[in-house]
Amino acid sequence: MPETSQTETRQIRGTRRERHVCPWWLGYFLASPLRRLLENPEQIVGPYVREGMTVLDVGPGMGYFSLPMARMVGEDGRVICVDIQGKMLESLRKRARRAGLLGRIETRLASESSLDLDDVSGTIDFTLAFAVVHETPDQTLLFGEIQSAMKSSALMLLCEPTGHVTRQDFDETLAFAHGAGFETVQVLKMKRNRSVLLRKKTPSPMRQNP
Ligand SMILES: C[S@@+](CC[C@H](N)C(=O)[O-])C[C@H]1O[C@@H](n2cnc3c(N)ncnc32)[C@H](O)[C@@H]1O
Repeated sequence: MPETSQTETRQIRGTRRERHVCPWWLGYFLASPLRRLLENPEQIVGPYVREGMTVLDVGPGMGYFSLPMARMVGEDGRVICVDIQGKMLESLRKRARRAGLLGRIETRLASESSLDLDDVSGTIDFTLAFAVVHETPDQTLLFGEIQSAMKSSALMLLCEPTGHVTRQDFDETLAFAHGAGFETVQVLKMKRNRSVLLRKKTPSPMRQNP
């Protein structure tokens, strides 16, 4: 499967925005320990991840959040990392092996048209989508696939960088998420990011005929 071009720019369905996929080599900067000074993974995802959980990391890059989440889920949990760039996942696996966490981490190379999560449908306890949604060509499809993979009432943390995503862009993204069956639980304050905690809506009970 061909890797996504680093310079590729394309229109996102339903919006006027252009899309830039993060080049794989930038993954090294994103995974740098110095980033902790600005974005501390334990503080950002710590409130939502518990031992034994199955966590989905969409667009994990080289695993800046995946490795801390693998520590948080413990030996009985797992973190499923889905990215469209094999080089990101290769480096993520190397880092996980060095940290002794590879047994809790599963990497999946996705295509742009699907995250290929059918086999884990309804099993995900928590999803992180950090700085990835604005890179995807079809947000309706993306949120729909994530929603199907999640357990009912499970939480998703959605964070988008203010440098790439305007308030209006983010509102459009939220509309796509709501349309796919998520509701907003809380708008979070996070430096350099627009951030929101979403919940997969439970299906409403069937109306009884009188
Ligand atoms: C800016 S990086 C963020 C990486 C990581 N979440 C972090 O905060 O360090 C965006 C990542 O999303 C991936 N990505 C872009 N489009 C994607 C898609 N449709 N499905 C899965 N991953 C995608 C890119 O390959 C890249 O690794």
